[in-house]
Amino acid sequence: MRRRQDRPHPQDRDTFWLETASVLDWITMPTKASDVSWKAEDFRIKWFEDGVLNACAECLDRHLATRGKKTAFIWEGDDPEISETITYEEVFDHVCRMANVLKARGVDKGDRVVLYMPMVPEAAYAMLACARIGAIHSVVFGGFSPEALASRINDCGATAVITADEGRRGGKTIPLKANVDRALEKAEGVRLVLTVKVTGGETSMVSGRDLWWHEMRDEVTADCPAEPMAAEDPLFILYTSGSTGKPKGVIHSTGGYLVYVAYTFGLVFDIDPDKDIYWCTADVGWITGHSYMVYGPLARGATSLLFEGVPTYPDPGRLWSVTEKHNVTILYTAPTAIRALMKEGDGFVKAHDRSSLRLLGSVGEPINPEAWRWYHDVVGEGRCPIVDTWWQTETGGIMITPLPDEPMDKPGWATAPLPGIELSLVDQEGHRLEGDAEGLLLITAGWPGQARGVYGDPQRFIDTYFSAYPGTYFTGDGAHRDAEGDYRITGRVDDVLNVSGHRMGTAEIESALVAHPAVAEAAVVGYPHDVKGQGIHCYVILQSDVQETDDLPQTLRQHVRQDIGPVATPDRVQIAPGLPKTRSGKIMRRILRKIAEGHPDQLGDTSTLAEPEIVDTLVADAQRFT
Ligand code: WTA
Repeated sequence: MRRRQDRPHPQDRDTFWLETASVLDWITMPTKASDVSWKAEDFRIKWFEDGVLNACAECLDRHLATRGKKTAFIWEGDDPEISETITYEEVFDHVCRMANVLKARGVDKGDRVVLYMPMVPEAAYAMLACARIGAIHSVVFGGFSPEALASRINDCGATAVITADEGRRGGKTIPLKANVDRALEKAEGVRLVLTVKVTGGETSMVSGRDLWWHEMRDEVTADCPAEPMAAEDPLFILYTSGSTGKPKGVIHSTGGYLVYVAYTFGLVFDIDPDKDIYWCTADVGWITGHSYMVYGPLARGATSLLFEGVPTYPDPGRLWSVTEKHNVTILYTAPTAIRALMKEGDGFVKAHDRSSLRLLGSVGEPINPEAWRWYHDVVGEGRCPIVDTWWQTETGGIMITPLPDEPMDKPGWATAPLPGIELSLVDQEGHRLEGDAEGLLLITAGWPGQARGVYGDPQRFIDTYFSAYPGTYFTGDGAHRDAEGDYRITGRVDDVLNVSGHRMGTAEIESALVAHPAVAEAAVVGYPHDVKGQGIHCYVILQSDVQETDDLPQTLRQHVRQDIGPVATPDRVQIAPGLPKTRSGKIMRRILRKIAEGHPDQLGDTSTLAEPEIVDTLVADAQRFT
């Protein structure tokens, strides 16, 4: 067994990354690794600048000669009776055709294409088809509302949307195409809506704008040369929440991103493309679905399982029945799913043969030691290592994780950075902390997978990540480092919530609340939730002419759900007479958090507040939630 302390951290990082770049074939190999400056005056992030490649060809074409007949995707339907295997050759055929349909409709290199898809193979085809012609995809999670979809389409100026008639999840259908139609009432510039028939449900099509994929695919050939792209050309945009304002369109590059996900996928999952059946349960709408369901596995020629459904349908044994059915060897899922299934008892797990499993992964939020032990002891029968992978939309790929051949001695600890990654911990003032310490997590050296910017707002990128502690990347997370140098992530230190592994800004929920005519002001905080990780607690002040009614909290919950999507549905709405504010009018979120967490004893000094008595009312009122 290898010691974590013996990981080979390169002295000369540029040489290391240039060597790592040969994980891809490239059209033109890069000769230079990095040109990175995180100083505001001459900010730039460039990797493998003179390299030329096509991400789709790296994922498909280069495997055809040796692995053409090998399964690229196993698709498991929401309905447990339905599954399908798709070879690399078949994926190649679908992708080239879809690329040709986009091309025939005028989608060009650099154009933005929004994908609003359920978990069907066509979601992956659509990403790869965009990559093939150099169009920039932006996947919007299929659980987001028409409102949220419209704002993303507008923000990136998309000219095409790829969607499905309906999605299926847990026995229910989601009206994706109807949502697109509603979104397009508020978004201009979309000339093409390519629609995949998934359920065959009633769908209206706008002539001249909307096309059925199944009709178009036979009208084009499968001959579509891959567009040579510069390494720094954008591959995709993915919207993610921050502590302020609207979600940001995080931009990822073609060369650096793909090198980084191929490198980390191979290393962290110790992948054997000829033996492993790898299953990542993430949705394609999140970064995990990009990096470790599509791009990483395909770049490595592996077999990746796509699952349309949810872990609890038709019963809470679904993850284990699918594992048994397809002989899954590596399972990569989120702590929220593990906690939810743990509650159902061991019977659902033990009812299925899990002897194919050899490695387990966790991602998206801190995993509590209790859930870790259950995952390890019950699911993995004590024989499968767990890789607890810390990373972010902005990092492109995994940054901190145990590796499978290292001791599994610290449940709940993401442990150590991967070779090539440099971290540091600082206090609020930015002083570097040494040894055993708790502080803010910074990344101090560039890496190829890092985001290149915020779409349409380069300054916001610099301000958000590189200005708090100049010259370093601020993650927004806190961490504890022990005397051996291992890290445990303690969670966000900013106003970003992590609800069931979904990242959400409190500001977005607040702005949805104040958009309701009854609401004058709102403050949203997270509180510990035993399944979701965090729950959403909303303090709401009503307009002076509005009377509080019994059903108002429920109305407001529904309103947020409609406005953003089901993932943002508040758990608690507390109608409040006022909010604790400083004399200068700043909301004291720390106090609101403590009240929601059920720790009114830890409020500290409240005497300097503008109206200290508000706090007592809020505390008394909040008791009904705990
Ligand atoms: C949290 C998901 C603890 C963290 C890949 C981060 C984690 C945010 C872990 C990014 C982990 C992710 N342990 N916390 N293993 N993985 N996080 O952008 O707070 O959706 O900043 O990317 O999730 O969420 P995002």
